[in-house]
Amino acid sequence: MKDVRGSSDSTRAWGVPPVVLITGCSSGIGRAVARQAVSAGFTTVATARDPRTLRELQAAGCVVRPLDVTDDAARRGLVAELDETYGGVDALVNNAGYGELGPFEEVPPDRWERQFRTNVFGPVALAQLVLPGMRARGHGRIVSVSSMAGELVLPVGAAYHGSKFALEAAMEGLWLEARRFGIEVSLVQPGAVNSNWGDNVPALKEYASGVYGELVAEMTEQMARRLPRGSSVEHAASVVLRALTDRRPRLRYRVGVDAHVLLPLSRVLPARVWTAWVRKQFPSMRRPAPRPAHTPVPDGARP
Ligand SMILES: NC(=O)c1ccc[n+]([C@@H]2O[C@H](COP(=O)([O-])OP(=O)(O)OC[C@H]3O[C@@H](n4cnc5c(N)ncnc54)[C@H](OP(=O)(O)O)[C@@H]3O)[C@@H](O)[C@H]2O)c1
Repeated sequence: MKDVRGSSDSTRAWGVPPVVLITGCSSGIGRAVARQAVSAGFTTVATARDPRTLRELQAAGCVVRPLDVTDDAARRGLVAELDETYGGVDALVNNAGYGELGPFEEVPPDRWERQFRTNVFGPVALAQLVLPGMRARGHGRIVSVSSMAGELVLPVGAAYHGSKFALEAAMEGLWLEARRFGIEVSLVQPGAVNSNWGDNVPALKEYASGVYGELVAEMTEQMARRLPRGSSVEHAASVVLRALTDRRPRLRYRVGVDAHVLLPLSRVLPARVWTAWVRKQFPSMRRPAPRPAHTPVPDGARP
């Protein structure tokens, strides 16, 4: 077993754990976190479903491995390999995730499940795998890239918001339990970030002609307008690096003006005022929906 802990001057000076495992590094925030972590002196294990997307990070000095966060055998195999090679994982960055956007009623149950498997159950299972080693060594950091969507809700995003709310609650629960073992837990909450995230929304256009079509069109237009003007992936990654390196890391870090303004507002404003603001962003919510031409009545529901 090779012990590489403390091998970097910069990370030693910050007193941070140097072996970091990062998920979802094929693009966007994850790729930028990997680049910044390796420059900061971490032994950086960058992972993605398709390892061909990791060549640039490998050239930059990252250790690269395939990992689909929903694959139990792959998760176990990788953490066992890192335990064997490096004596453990000191920091985990749960970054992999996507947005299963669509109207609550129309997103099929299997897509709700895939959303939760990727955004919640994968990160939880990875954390469970690295925690015993962290406890044994008396230190560790688990940083999860959540979202502004983990604390406030907009329409056409129930599955995504549900998954990020669940991630927030799970990681806050771990934060309460693990601190006395020397393990720090943080959530990074970006607002809009200019990454591939919008392109990776799988199915929004499939709902365009459905009963919520107007709302879907409004959300599509908002995303097209807001995402390119969002924070850069480098800025979002720098906040993840802060969570990894702050001497006293916080539970939550917000990223971007939108997250800094909207999250506190959504908490302090009375629900009625907050919802009125949301309705203003999506004018179709204020118009009564046309009644369907025919509503099937289940057998026995009426005499
Ligand atoms: N962009 C935003 O506006 C924004 C705002 C708030 C929060 N976030 C969150 O930030 C995180 C990173 O997103 P991003 O903006 O950087 O978007 P992105 O460029 O689409 O990156 C998402 C990454 O997650 C990976 N991924 C998806 N499913 C996976 C799975 N089952 N196993 C492993 N990797 C998987 C993708 O890999 P593939 O290439 O294999 O698909 C990709 O590397 C996500 O958790 C997202 O929800 C983004």
